[in-house]
Amino acid sequence: MTDQHPRDVKSYVKRPGRMTPAQQRALDTLLPELGLPEPDAKLDPADVFGRSAPLLVEIGFGNGDSLVDIAAAQPDWNVLGIEVHEPGIGHCLLMAERAGLQHFRVSQYDAVAVLTHQLPRASVTRLNLYFPDPWPKKRHHKRRLVQPRFLELVDRVLAPEGALHIATDWENYAEQIDAVLSADARLRCAVRREHSGERPYERPQTKFERRGLKLGHRIWDWCWQRAG
Ligand SMILES: C[S@@+](CC[C@H](N)C(=O)[O-])C[C@H]1O[C@@H](n2cnc3c(N)ncnc32)[C@H](O)[C@@H]1O
Repeated sequence: MTDQHPRDVKSYVKRPGRMTPAQQRALDTLLPELGLPEPDAKLDPADVFGRSAPLLVEIGFGNGDSLVDIAAAQPDWNVLGIEVHEPGIGHCLLMAERAGLQHFRVSQYDAVAVLTHQLPRASVTRLNLYFPDPWPKKRHHKRRLVQPRFLELVDRVLAPEGALHIATDWENYAEQIDAVLSADARLRCAVRREHSGERPYERPQTKFERRGLKLGHRIWDWCWQRAG
């Protein structure tokens, strides 16, 4: 296993996908209002959201349905979704508009850059990573997000009382997550569940979870908190 991220994450995580006219309209009209700038400089979440509140960040929200449900249920939190797949961003923005969310923002940029350069240290109370790309082929495992280097970013942005929530439906990735996270003394496992989709931990079911369950996969859910 390597702890190196390929240089240009966006080049391989960005998938081709058909954009509907409604999604394109959402990108054109809502993204300028709800989107974050390029992650080349720090920003203050209180400025972005117009208020101070605990910050929930989700990496790779896909089509955003489950993230919009989370945001709608948490009006007292500031909620930031990070996703590079444009049709998914468009879909998510439409759902957020429909739900009338005021406390919701989106970054269309690589999460590694957002966590490295843009979010202040210790600013995230809850970091969600649900069903990250599994990169099943062994020669592609180095592209997986959960690696020791990713934990440096988690350590950078997670607040003292913060928690990292992860879920996957790939057994081999679950083993990697257990190994990488357990080896990091800065985090401790507060919750670990293995189930068949009936016991998601503090989250709605997601699109990729349903896809995995149809394939007969099992689901792993973790909550990792700062140790000590
Ligand atoms: C397998 S999908 C899961 C989507 C959603 N979380 C779900 O469970 O339905 C993984 C998503 O992560 C996004 N992604 C992967 N790497 C990313 C990165 N470095 N920054 C932002 N998004 C990323 C992909 O575009 C993709 O939509």
